[in-house]
Amino acid sequence: MTDPIQAAWQTLRTLDQPKLPQLFDDTGRVAAMSGRIEWPGVDDGAADGPQDNANGITFDWSKTHLNEEFLAAFEELARACDFTGQRERLFNAEPINITEGRAATHTAMRGAGEPSKVEEADALLRRMGILVNAIHDGALGEMRYLIHIGIGGSALGPALAVDALTRDLAKVDVHVVSNIDGVALEQAFAACDPATTLIAVASKTFTTIETMTNAASALAWLSDNGVEDPSGRVVALTASPEKAVEWGVDETRVLPFPESVGGRYSLWSSIGFPVAMAIGMEEFQQFLNGALAVDTHFAQYDGRDNLCLRAAFADQYYARLRGCQTRACFAYDERLALLPDYLQQLEMESNGKQVTVTGEPVDGPTAPITWGGVGTDAQHAVFQLLHQGTHLVPVDFIASIAPGDMLDPAHHQILLTNCFAQGAALMAGGNMSADGTDPARAFPGDRPSATMLCDDLDAAALGALIAFHEHRTFANAVLMQINPFDQFGVELGKKMANDIAAGGGDFDPSTKALLEQAGLG
Ligand code: F6P
Repeated sequence: MTDPIQAAWQTLRTLDQPKLPQLFDDTGRVAAMSGRIEWPGVDDGAADGPQDNANGITFDWSKTHLNEEFLAAFEELARACDFTGQRERLFNAEPINITEGRAATHTAMRGAGEPSKVEEADALLRRMGILVNAIHDGALGEMRYLIHIGIGGSALGPALAVDALTRDLAKVDVHVVSNIDGVALEQAFAACDPATTLIAVASKTFTTIETMTNAASALAWLSDNGVEDPSGRVVALTASPEKAVEWGVDETRVLPFPESVGGRYSLWSSIGFPVAMAIGMEEFQQFLNGALAVDTHFAQYDGRDNLCLRAAFADQYYARLRGCQTRACFAYDERLALLPDYLQQLEMESNGKQVTVTGEPVDGPTAPITWGGVGTDAQHAVFQLLHQGTHLVPVDFIASIAPGDMLDPAHHQILLTNCFAQGAALMAGGNMSADGTDPARAFPGDRPSATMLCDDLDAAALGALIAFHEHRTFANAVLMQINPFDQFGVELGKKMANDIAAGGGDFDPSTKALLEQAGLG
């Protein structure tokens, strides 16, 4: 009997390849391939023009090659991969991270999933809220600065959210430090006053060498600058609370989160503490609410109507059927400058795998290389390759209808016009020479893009955007039959570094020579 997953891929491989511009002969295409995810609007009292009460994101996948035949075949693949069953296991907190025997309960942090996990998450977030409010009210004295120390999932989310949501006004000036390179920490020291600086140590395991080394140096900096009780300035954000207490943080300032919340999915937990410190608990709740709206959508819809799954159909189409090795994300919004970094970890650490859930070699490429930048800057740097290079790169555009600035509306109009024009140009192609024949001025066109258009880029929209990408990543993993929740690939290099530090290890001649040259051998 033929394996239904193999059969679905076989069907997908035999379908005719459509050309993008022709797909729009179907006048219903934009409506059919666009969808919205919404959440209850919050009236902030300000007249923001047409986007007052902004409460949603439009996801337009019409400029991808997915036509009726491909959509139907991908729906067949999703059925064969038991997408609905896997999704149920995710929300029911079953141990879908099979290699580590753990559930993945990040959705519970925003209120979706197995009730006891939601209850536990709610209690933990309430505890965080009490501490955030107490610090805002001066419980630790005046705290104007916060140095947040963490790495990977314990830093990328906080850095993105703080940067995106506090461009105009932050309750506390947050500096995220991740790299072990002391230059990063020194830069934060230079920007903060030790007398009014709080330190957040964010580490799921509370053992990561970069974080623990940076945290110790931050305490030394406080002490060297006259702070009498440096440990009293530390808040620990961790799934290993006992280790934080052992390290010297008072229990009252340890904010735990569940072991089943993965590092790169932990922004919603106490790892979001610096975000809550910067925007306040009410806004942090809006951030969670936006994510919850996507959880609700993801749990409710099937097939192409599930916008995260539909995006995964397109991702699989480009990676496995068109040989695209990368996917690019360009936010036409300065506030999302750190989004590509965040997505790189989310997608590449989750889905950069070589074996399936049953330990077999995968039978196609897994996560594409995620990259990107901000528009319009990127247009003047890398878009040449997108338009005329030999690589086919599916592109995601993200923009907000409401501007983030208060300047002449011309700024935002030019920004949005360029965003939409790029998607149109990639698809349409053409020749820019006078007689239309110069090959150097030819644009092949038929190049795909998807657009995520936020009513406004507020806390809820950011939460929704991130949750959308989390579920898109999960849906891709299901279609490829891989486990997106482990990350053993980061371990070997760590072990070798530890071996070197311990003076052991048997290394190749090149590594030995480098170590010797740097005085480490
Ligand atoms: O090295 C990879 C990793 O384990 C990530 O998955 C994680 O986000 C990061 O390190 C930091 O780990 P921790 O939060 O335990 O310090």
